[in-house]
Formats: sequence, structure tokens, C-alpha cells
Amino acid sequence: MTLVPPREPSETLLRRPSSLDPAELGFTPRKPVAWLSPTQLAATGIRVAFAAQFGAYLDKRELQLALPTAVHAEHAQDEELWLDYIADLGDGFDATYSMAYLLAQDNVEVNDGVLPRGQVVVLGGDQVYPTASSAAYEDRFEGPYKAAFPQPITETSPHIFALPGNHDWYDGLTAFLRLFARRNGNHIGGWVTKQTRSYFALKLPHGWWLLAIDAQGDAYLDDPQLEFFRGVAATFERGDRIIIAIPQPSWMQTDSSPRIYDTIDYFLRSVIDPSGAEVAVMVSGDLHHYSRYASKDAPRQLINCGGGGAYTAATHQLDDEILVPPRYSMLRRASTQVRYTLQKTYPSKMRSQFLGSRVFGRLPWRNWGLGVLLGIVQTMLLLAFQNEEGRIITTPIFLMVSVIVAAGIFFSYGLTEGEQRMWPVVLGSLHGAAHVVLGIVGWLVWKQLPFHDLPWPLPVLSAVAFYLPFAGLAALLLVAAYLLVASRFRVNLNELFAGQGIEDFKSFLRMRIAPDGTLTIYAVGVDKISKKWVPQSAGSWFRPEKPLQPRLVDDPIVFAAPVRTPSEDDAAHMPSGLSTPTL
Ligand SMILES: [Fe+2]
Repeated sequence: MTLVPPREPSETLLRRPSSLDPAELGFTPRKPVAWLSPTQLAATGIRVAFAAQFGAYLDKRELQLALPTAVHAEHAQDEELWLDYIADLGDGFDATYSMAYLLAQDNVEVNDGVLPRGQVVVLGGDQVYPTASSAAYEDRFEGPYKAAFPQPITETSPHIFALPGNHDWYDGLTAFLRLFARRNGNHIGGWVTKQTRSYFALKLPHGWWLLAIDAQGDAYLDDPQLEFFRGVAATFERGDRIIIAIPQPSWMQTDSSPRIYDTIDYFLRSVIDPSGAEVAVMVSGDLHHYSRYASKDAPRQLINCGGGGAYTAATHQLDDEILVPPRYSMLRRASTQVRYTLQKTYPSKMRSQFLGSRVFGRLPWRNWGLGVLLGIVQTMLLLAFQNEEGRIITTPIFLMVSVIVAAGIFFSYGLTEGEQRMWPVVLGSLHGAAHVVLGIVGWLVWKQLPFHDLPWPLPVLSAVAFYLPFAGLAALLLVAAYLLVASRFRVNLNELFAGQGIEDFKSFLRMRIAPDGTLTIYAVGVDKISKKWVPQSAGSWFRPEKPLQPRLVDDPIVFAAPVRTPSEDDAAHMPSGLSTPTL
């Protein structure tokens, strides 16, 4: 094994900070992204529109043909292997570092048991929020992970691999490839990068594999990627078992986006099935919770675990049963449909419902910028009503009402994914209309007060001073009520939780391939992250003031060892170490 030269002098890793001061850390700890702030909403809107119209131009996967390929087989001959999987991690420092801290410790103690640190870490996507750039990776991912695991690089350093999520994609993967796919190697704290493209294959002990597929949205897999995985599949032995990592849990998003599973189904049928290997488990991030589906008709399990640091997402509206592939797949030759049932969620459905209902308290607290914007809009509406007394329709009133209703529709239609488009339009229109009604009520109340009879410009100044704050708060509460109602129709369900920015209930997967070849997956959750950090003189730069309390949030999931029947063409077998498949 070749040693990877540190990208910076190792003294930098040894110089330990005594506080969270950016000058000492070498990066700036960030707050969680405020998804409903006016600037972020505008940026999200532009990004969604841009990705829809020009997404294909950002797709650099074809270009990776120029980059080398490799199957990573460094651990293929190990008797036992521990492997960690974490996704959706590059957000606020406290949550991201809490999870990085757990990954970095020698052991995690859960439910009276001890789980040793993974020798390999797989990052499942969204290593940065909201938009990829080298500076954003530094502050939101690389810095916290270095701080958690500032060990010098040695022969036994654990490896780190990353699959891009949609947020890694927003710069066309430029910063992602620079960070994770350097030809001459890189390291993130004490973790060593190995991959050379945005997708990768790990040959694991006892006939296990991990294939990470860069399948963005419902885009088709690019030819170089398919070629790579066909080359890998040619080296499988009959009976090998596979862990597949994909960026989105397309099995769960099939109702709203029935075509989204088509890409992965094509991959399974055309690449995996002919090889005689079997997919035991598919893992994914993207949705910020833990959920697991299993079937009595198939040995495969479907796990989403997006608890690496970003805001917690709802579980209470997950379907108890799903069909995979979905009923409305556009593929003419889809795989046989299997019914899966929901086995476990974290947070629990009941807890998720409770978290959703806290929106009235948390939304105004966390989104004062949106409150100011709504207050300004309400004040402008008031002035439009006030200036044209006696007339119901005037140009200013017409313009304000149109803008408010259009904004309501944009908020629901633009931010709700899927092919069901009627409910977003209906609920968005009603949401806009409700804000107009709020404006009328506000005007009727304001009329009773003496301010509008004052000489110019006092009516305007008094409206800004006294009306705007109350109108802004009332409008925010109206948004909270809308989110609660709309989420029942699966409209803006994401915003109901993104707007609250819940940092607790984080999770990751720790997997063990035992000497007997069985795979056990432990889902580790943390009900409460730390927000206070104490510098220390060894190990992670900071420890939580109160110890984190990780626990198993699901029963250990055990998969039988592969039963392998070697093919006649043993020449295709690869030796241990880095090897290149025949393409
Ligand atoms: Fe995410």
C-alpha cells in the first residue's frame, strides 16, 4: 500500500485550537442553512429552475471517462471489516461535528455493546449545503471532519469514499472531484481518499461488494459509468452479495415521481442480474431520516439513512407499504414487482408528527428574515388599500394581490417535487389568498387607529414602525398554519421541517462483515446533538460538554454470508489491492 502524502504539513494537524475561533481552526464553523430565508428561497428557486432547464449541461459524468478507474480491493482479504455509512452531512457545525466526532472515536458504545470505528467510511451524498464550492466544503464538511479526526496518516488509516448528492452537483461536481477524486490522493483529517471518479466499487471480504452509483434524479446512467460497472460485474462470482449505495431512495419517491426508480432498475437488470450476484441491501441518503423497508418475498432490504447533520425530515407520512418497481414505471421490461413494508423509522412516526406540530413556535424563531419580508409585503398591501380609500380595485391593489398569490403558488409548486401538480397549485393559490385576507383584516383594524389621518409621510412611517412587526409575525404564523395543512397533502412537507431546522435525531450506519461472512448493519441514532464543545489535548479537537448518547434505533439487521459458486473463468478474479477491471 502506498502512503498518501499529506496535503498540508502534519504540524497543522498537530496544532490544536483552544476555541472555535476561525483563526485558530482554519475554517469557519457555520450555522445550519436557513432554508426559508428570503435569499435562500430566491437562490433555491433559481437553482431549481436552472437545474430543470440546463441540468444536462452541468452533467460531467461523461467527462470522467478521462479519469482512471479502479476497484478498491484493499480490504478484500480481511477476516473482518467494519464500514460506516453516513449521508447528508455538510450543514451546521454542531450537528455535523457531533456525527463526525462519533465516527472518529475508537468505539461507539450502544445498548451495552461496543461498535469499533469503521475502517472505511462511505459518505452517501450532500457533503455540503446549500451549494457546492471549495470554500463551502472547507467550512461545512472538511473542517469539522478534520477537527474530529486529526490523526496523522499511516498505513492503517481508514479510507473515505463519497457519492455526490444533489447539493454536491450544483457546481457540476467541480469542487467534489477536487476534494474526493484527486489522482495523487488526498486526505480529510485522518481519513484517506481513494476514489478517482464520482462513482466507485469496493471489493469487501467474503464475497461482499459495495457499489456506489452516481444516479442523479431520473437522469440515465452515463456510458462510461455503465461500462465501469459492467467491467466490475464481470469479476463477480455467482452468489456474491452486493450493497448498493445510491444518492436518492428512489424506492420511496415512486408515488410522486414514478420514473425515478427506472434508472436503478435498469442498472439492476442489465448489470447485476446477468452476473449471478445478488443485491442484499440498497442504502441511500437524501431524505434526512432513517427508514427501512423489507419484504417477505425478497431477501433485499431498502434503507434510507440521511442523518449526517442536515435538518431532520418527516417520517410520519412514509408509506407503510410500497411496490418496487412502482406501478407506473415507464420501463417496458421492468423487474418483477415486490411489495415492501416499512419496518422502522427514526425518528418514530409519532415523534415526527409531534415535531411537525411545533412549527408555530420554531418557524418565527428561526426565520425572522422571512418575517421581515412578509411584514414589508403586508405593509405595502396596507398602503395600497389606504391610499385608494373607497375603491376596491386599483392598480397598486391589483399588483400587490397578484404578486402575493403568484408567490404563494411559486412556493408550493416550485418547491414540491413530483408529478402530482394539481394540489400544489390549489393549495398555493389558497395560501396566497389567505395572505390577502390577512391584509384586509389588518387594514380594517388599522383603519380604527388614528395613524392614517396623520399628514404625509407619517402614515407610512407609523405603518412601518407599528404595523410591519405585527403583520410580519401574523404572516409567519399563517405560513406555519399553511405548512401544517399542506403537508397533509404531501405539499411542502419538506419545508414544514426545513423551516424548523431541527438539528437533533441524527443517525449513521455501522456495518460489520464478520469472519463467517455475515453482514450486520447497526443503525446508530443520537436523539440530541451537542451544541457546546470543550477543547481537549488529544484525539478530536473538541469533545461534547455533555457526552453524546448514541443508541441503536433499529434491531441489528443481519444478512447471510454469500454462498459462492465460482465461475469457470477464474482468470477474471482480481488479486487483493488496487486493481483495474477489464473494460
Ligand atoms: Fe440532503
